[in-house]
Amino acid sequence: MALPLLILFALFSLFILFKLYQRFRFKLPPGPRPLPIVGNLYDLKPVLVRCFTEWSQIYGPIFSVYLGSHLTIVVNSAELAKEVLKDNDQQLANRNRTRQIAKFSKNGMDLIWSDYGPHYVKVRKLCTLELFSMKRIEGLRPIREDEVTAMVESIYKDCVKPENKGNALVLREYLGMMAFLHITRLTFGKRFMDDNGVIDGQGEELKFILNNGIKLGTKKSFAEFLPWLRFLFKAENAALEEHDALADGFTKKIMEEHTTARKKTGNTKNHFVDALLTLQKQYDLSDDSVIGLLWDMISAGMDTTTITVEWGMAELVRNPRVQKKVQEELERVVGNDRIMTEADIPNLPYLQSVTKECFRMHPPTPLMLPHKAVTNVKIGGYDIPKGATVSVNVWALGRDPKVWKNPLEFRPERFQENDIDMKGTDYRFLPFGSGRRICPGAQLAINLVTSMLGHMMHHFDWTPPAGMRPEDMDMMEQPGTVTYMRTPLKGVPKPRLSGDLFRRVAAGTV
Ligand code: HEM
Repeated sequence: MALPLLILFALFSLFILFKLYQRFRFKLPPGPRPLPIVGNLYDLKPVLVRCFTEWSQIYGPIFSVYLGSHLTIVVNSAELAKEVLKDNDQQLANRNRTRQIAKFSKNGMDLIWSDYGPHYVKVRKLCTLELFSMKRIEGLRPIREDEVTAMVESIYKDCVKPENKGNALVLREYLGMMAFLHITRLTFGKRFMDDNGVIDGQGEELKFILNNGIKLGTKKSFAEFLPWLRFLFKAENAALEEHDALADGFTKKIMEEHTTARKKTGNTKNHFVDALLTLQKQYDLSDDSVIGLLWDMISAGMDTTTITVEWGMAELVRNPRVQKKVQEELERVVGNDRIMTEADIPNLPYLQSVTKECFRMHPPTPLMLPHKAVTNVKIGGYDIPKGATVSVNVWALGRDPKVWKNPLEFRPERFQENDIDMKGTDYRFLPFGSGRRICPGAQLAINLVTSMLGHMMHHFDWTPPAGMRPEDMDMMEQPGTVTYMRTPLKGVPKPRLSGDLFRRVAAGTV
């Protein structure tokens, strides 16, 4: 009995000493009072971004919060976001890796979780120049158009079934499948579903790995916040090892398949496996880095798209005026005798504003990804000690009443009145972040989201489920690092084009 008490007392004293040291050495931003050991964990509300936005009203636009003993600084205004992402960009460009993430990323051998340094600079250059060049994004367009039209076809087939007439569909099922097929095809160079809509064996294996990864990644463990207790979590560590081996085995097999195919045909395809394998020597990449980069694309590019389009569709179902206005523009520009393509997007300014309005109100990564201080820095006159995490609350920036008129109103016209950029140059609106760690997939994501919303609006009229008033739809977020809708969106689609325009436009291998 005496020993545990002694340990607790020692930990408590250490914590108090550390706090006193930080208080006198640094002028930290204000914030809620932390308790020893757990910090502010006891006080957090499940939807973190709403909790942080509320706290910014109490403590001001920059505040400190302790997740266990780890200090996180949250910034909630455009001016402070600029200080973080422009003025101190390089000093705040490291990443904070949880235990699971350190395992999955092989301690930052990928891009997303790599600290800022020579490895990061190398793989980031590869991504910018090779994987996300305008030429490659355009080369991958047939995959996007194939999967978007396949999604439309499957919604059409389901909604015209006599037993489904007038019934609401759960949109997330269609959006999620589309995002899965698109991102896995772009990354692994394969469509894991046959023409009858059946996922093949390798696809099932991939889905298992993804679901297992989500299960392990979202498992809340105190070991995360109490590093000195990690040795107690042996079973979790073993599960992480096993998962890692599974993902590695799967990816290596795909890499071998593509290497064999390239040798046989002499053809290099546009997808990321072929791109990375042919560039591996030139960029001096280890197999671990190739695997890490491939999985980065899956983890960064799948849920984000599904989430954005689900929220966007919810806003359009709730706002018949906006829905009608998008459809009128589509009729004017595309007409009703053909389907839209990405080539139409530059001529659809209202649709583009709808996409922006979705990202303003519902950024899928509302706190961006964590930035970690490489060295001591000053933000807003406060000290940020080396090793602390800095989060930018882009959800709060997009809803700041000092910046946006009636911020809770879904009104795409605001972007026609003021042309505000969403790719990191305007600190009022940062769904993709800004600075050296800005999302490299931003343009691809914008094209895809705009195309998905455009097709959904062109092909169907959408209404809420029978008996539900638009104002009764649940517009709250589910807890998590990415913000899904708390209640999956249901909508009733009514086809508005002739039946032959609902066929999938298959792309073949790209
Ligand atoms: C709706 C779509 C998307 C949104 C809103 C989004 C947003 C973001 C944000 C906020 C970051 C962190 C920026 C920072 O830390 O400062 C990020 C990073 C990243 N995103 Fe995206 N993203 C989207 C789609 C994609 C797609 C489709 C891909 C790839 C296929 C992708 C790949 C990445 C990668 C690799 C990083 C890490 C960059 C780095 O650490 O240097 N994202 N994204």
